[in-house]
Amino acid sequence: MSVAPRPLRRPRRLRRTGVIRRLVRETRLTPDRLVLPLFVTDGENVEQPIEAMPGHARLSVDRVLARCQDALENKVGAFALFPAVDPALKRPDAGEALNPENLLCRTVRAIKAGIPEACVITDIALDPYSSLGHDGLVRNGVVVNDETVDVLSQMAVLHAKAGADIVAPSDMMDGRVAAIRAALDRAGATDVAIISYTAKYASAFYGPFREALGSAPVAAENVPSDKKTYQMDPANAREAAIEAMLDEDEGADVLMVKPALPYLDVIRRLRLATELPVAAYHVSGEYAMVKAAAARGWLDERSCMSEVLLGIARAGADLIFTYAALEYARWWRESLR
Ligand code: PBG
Repeated sequence: MSVAPRPLRRPRRLRRTGVIRRLVRETRLTPDRLVLPLFVTDGENVEQPIEAMPGHARLSVDRVLARCQDALENKVGAFALFPAVDPALKRPDAGEALNPENLLCRTVRAIKAGIPEACVITDIALDPYSSLGHDGLVRNGVVVNDETVDVLSQMAVLHAKAGADIVAPSDMMDGRVAAIRAALDRAGATDVAIISYTAKYASAFYGPFREALGSAPVAAENVPSDKKTYQMDPANAREAAIEAMLDEDEGADVLMVKPALPYLDVIRRLRLATELPVAAYHVSGEYAMVKAAAARGWLDERSCMSEVLLGIARAGADLIFTYAALEYARWWRESLR
């Protein structure tokens, strides 16, 4: 007979059955908290697979609408659009970004005309349109701030006029949230919200996305080879709190952390630093690593992808941009049966 005292607290009591576990579950990630990013291309009935992002492709506008419809039926109602711009239209000054008839504007109009209830989120940055592959204008080897912000503000107004519900500046220029807010308000777009990429890191996990858009910085003289002078150093977390303070003061409606999994501490930090909603972007490389391991039979895709997304939510993200949104929504629906 053991003389050791019996434990008074036995946490396993609440893990004993599925019903009990669900009663005390702390985090529930429903599909209506997810945003599905989509890549758009010209043409009709086009679907060009993206090698490092199984399940995703550059879609022509008709296919984008079909995908949105499918997602909405599965309770995913928000979409982040990224245009794969024809390389012939890319210029050092990214002029195509301000063409009201560009691919992105046409896509936004088509979605809002066909599926008005879809929440359309557009990306504000110059990289899909820049022949140099930078989010801003490059002058003498430098990505210049204030001049870029002027262009980004015009771009946001253009997207709002096309029907965007939310604009999401992903460029990391200083002062762009205030400038975009002022420009939107001046244009009468006072109801268009801003999801600011508040803490966007200079991450290697964006690789598959840059493949999808052909948007990596080009190797050329007087063009920075990376985005480290504007995107944040992965070593820094306090700096994210400074960015959060600025974005909140400048009028952002939602603050975003990107990528997600290597930055859960930053998500938590922002969750505690602001009362605004916090978003996280589970980026292309994070999606690809689960997909790749699953394709080799090394990981179980459904369990691992769900665990990753739940972890991001548990860390404090209210909403999550993820390429797995539609799959997750289907798993969720199945789990309710
Ligand atoms: C560019 C932009 C990037 C992503 C979203 N907007 C890439 C970059 O900064 O180079 C990455 C998204 C992803 O990897 O899923 N403004």
